[in-house]
Amino acid sequence: MILITGATGFIGSQIPAHLHAFGVPRDAIATPARDTFNLAQPHSLAGVLDRYQPRVIIHCAAMRDLMHCEREPELAITVNIHATAALADWCNHNAARIIYLSTDQVFDGVRGMYLETDPRRPINHYGVTKALGEDATRVATHATVARIALTLGHTRERTRSPNEFVVSNLRAGKHATLFENEFRTPVLVSDAARTLSELATMPSPPTTIHVGGPERLSRVEMGTGIARGFSLDTALCLATRHQPQATGLQRPLDTSMDTSLIRRSLTHPPRSFSDSVRELALTEPPAT
Ligand SMILES: NC(=O)c1ccc[n+]([C@@H]2O[C@H](COP(=O)([O-])OP(=O)(O)OC[C@H]3O[C@@H](n4cnc5c(N)ncnc54)[C@H](OP(=O)(O)O)[C@@H]3O)[C@@H](O)[C@H]2O)c1
Repeated sequence: MILITGATGFIGSQIPAHLHAFGVPRDAIATPARDTFNLAQPHSLAGVLDRYQPRVIIHCAAMRDLMHCEREPELAITVNIHATAALADWCNHNAARIIYLSTDQVFDGVRGMYLETDPRRPINHYGVTKALGEDATRVATHATVARIALTLGHTRERTRSPNEFVVSNLRAGKHATLFENEFRTPVLVSDAARTLSELATMPSPPTTIHVGGPERLSRVEMGTGIARGFSLDTALCLATRHQPQATGLQRPLDTSMDTSLIRRSLTHPPRSFSDSVRELALTEPPAT
């Protein structure tokens, strides 16, 4: 049994189909929902895991919104750290494996192109809780930390992802104002889900892996590429400079990650940015 936490989320919801493609039957995939598996109550989680007896947990569920983590710091600690510790502890006692979804926000964004082995220095509360979640995961003997880059895709909310921000503004004839000094290594959500599925089904996955695309791009470069891929007016993408104090939230400037390990280790590593945008344009759901 492979158990996915956060299977209603942006990334988690895509994983069952990819696991199936890697040969995992549908009835060997468990996706407990929040009402029975609430990370805000870490002590209740072991009982649920006892019932499912997973041999692998893909731990996607988290408090992911940066502002939410700043506003409710204690809850973020419970959900992102203590609950992760409870899952890792269960894995240790039951010879199970855990794959923990971390983030590029564990880095301070000063240097960029971070390797898996580089020191982490998060600068916002979300990043701190995810870095400590990584440490909690490592309590398990068989643990993989998968640091996910900025993720592109079509979300349930239709407004959340970077591509949706650009496309919705440009289609409405508005500008999309984008940072020219904030750099990421964006990855398509289906590629991230496929990577996680391959990690879950391979015999000896790496202990830490960066799940990102092959290119380091600024937000405005991404916006322009998305506009081009959706045949929208690239001139509506305006460059601005990130002012660290402007929102009261510390956002790391350059959290681009070196992704050579993923390209060496996996059969189908994440696609290029232009291929990702082409896929996004082809798979865009109809307007509601
Ligand atoms: N999206 C990105 O760009 C990105 C980038 C880097 C890293 N990540 C990491 O990737 C993981 C998945 O991100 P995502 O974008 O898929 O997040 P998401 O769309 O916000 O989904 C979060 C999932 O967690 C569940 N959840 C939240 N609080 C919970 C709780 N107290 N108890 C049980 N379940 C709870 C949600 O359930 P409900 O549906 O019930 O709310 C949902 O299924 C996270 O660990 C995140 O830190 C994401």
